[in-house]
Amino acid sequence: MSSEEVLKCSLCSEPAITNIRYAKLRLCKKHFIEYIQNKVFKTIKRYELIKNGWRVLVAVSGGRDSIALLHILSVISKQLGFNVLALHLDLGITDYSRRAREVVESFCRSLEVPLIVVDLKELLGVRLPDLVIRSRRPACSLCGLLKRYLINVVGIESKVNVVVLGHHLDDLLTYVMKNFLLQKLNDISKLGPKTESEGPLVGRVRPLYEVSGNETSLYVSIQGLPVVDGVCPYKVVGSIEGEVRKFLDSIEGRNPGIKIALARGIAKNIEFYKVGLRSNVGTCRYCGMPTSGDVCAFCKLTEKVLGSSTGPIVRSKIKEVVSSYR
Ligand code: AMP
Ligand code: FES
Ligand code: ZN
Ligand code: ZN
Repeated sequence: MSSEEVLKCSLCSEPAITNIRYAKLRLCKKHFIEYIQNKVFKTIKRYELIKNGWRVLVAVSGGRDSIALLHILSVISKQLGFNVLALHLDLGITDYSRRAREVVESFCRSLEVPLIVVDLKELLGVRLPDLVIRSRRPACSLCGLLKRYLINVVGIESKVNVVVLGHHLDDLLTYVMKNFLLQKLNDISKLGPKTESEGPLVGRVRPLYEVSGNETSLYVSIQGLPVVDGVCPYKVVGSIEGEVRKFLDSIEGRNPGIKIALARGIAKNIEFYKVGLRSNVGTCRYCGMPTSGDVCAFCKLTEKVLGSSTGPIVRSKIKEVVSSYR
């Protein structure tokens, strides 16, 4: 084979820009884009993530993954017959959040996708960095708690059918392996392609379940999609995560396709990981959101840090913000 042939797309005569080893395909720009869109389409069908006629809330951070996902969903939503609504949470993390918000706002305008922006400063009068100082908790754990709560509230109040998250294959497998190493088996059950709705909580789906981090990045760069520059100033890659990522990349290098096979296996065994899981059976005595205890984590945090549980106020403010998007 001449070097010229080696560089050709497997589906046309254009030059290949990538080699998808697990699929034994070399693809040009156009066929790569189609391949990824088709892969997300098939993932939605395979795991029954989104149904015809649904309204879906896509949580968009401004990072590569959720920007790529929003773009893909805006393309395939017509074929699958669902409506896209976007959500961005502005947690007020220095200049980073301002830039991320601008990216998401202008991208949604260009796609003509309606966008709900929830601004933490407007809701609570404080930004994430203030909460970090006052609570003395690690930024990432606070950030996770706030995002979970706010996304759940917007999901309920906007009456969408499902919340869509941008986690991709590498993120999910890394968390699965980390939880396996720590034997937090119940936590693995929340890392499949979908988490079913529970009581009033809206279900969550992850359509990039079989798309790798590299594929997501390539999609963004070929399409020239806007993404926020840099990384969150609080971002720390834990040492276990870093090691696990290297390990997964290394076995994928020698056994192309093993990551997707593992992801499919986890999806198949997801019920197994739920054994003994405590569900959110209770209701927060302040804000009424589902919780496994008597008071939800958000109300506990705001009570401790701000002097009162602000869950009820936050819920009613969000209800007002989303009322025009129903
Ligand atoms: P992360 O936990 O930061 O890796 O984010 C995982 C997913 O959560 C992203 O792909 C988004 O779908 C969603 N997400 C994270 N941050 C935000 C944000 N500021 N606003 C809206 N959605 C977000
Ligand atoms: Fe959550 Fe950085 S995005 S701490
Ligand atoms: Zn081609
Ligand atoms: Zn509460």
